Amino acid sequence: MMITLKINGKEHTVDTDPTMPLLWVIRDIIGFTGTKYGCGKGLCGACMVLMDGNAINSCQMPVSVVQGKELITIEGETENLQLLQKSWAELNVPQCGFCQSGQLITATALLNNNPNPSETDIDNNMIRNICRCGTYPRIKSAINHSVE
Ligand code: FES
Repeated sequence: MMITLKINGKEHTVDTDPTMPLLWVIRDIIGFTGTKYGCGKGLCGACMVLMDGNAINSCQMPVSVVQGKELITIEGETENLQLLQKSWAELNVPQCGFCQSGQLITATALLNNNPNPSETDIDNNMIRNICRCGTYPRIKSAINHSVE
């Protein structure tokens, strides 16, 4: 089935099984490999992308469902994503780095919906993403730093 996706402001038409998870299409067919495969079960957040400004687990989303939606990956350029990336770099947040694109996407969705989040808002939002290196304190500091 031919499916057209709008990713990072550009349309991509792919011939694929409509039930294929969005993550596979983004990485393996279109080639945006910044979005990561972690658990494949909707549990880790490594595969987060923005859909109409909100973070979704792309490993759980059939590609046909997201047609017509505005998708942003870590390679995209939005004001909040770039603000957070700058803050991430300034505070040296990543350790191994594998989860960080997902962390940044979830943090971007937080700022999209709540430009001045409280500590509790950050905790409640970022709970969707796992970091095996334990960079949580630096992630939290970087989100706070980005809105100072
Ligand atoms: Fe999608 Fe873990 S790879 S939530």
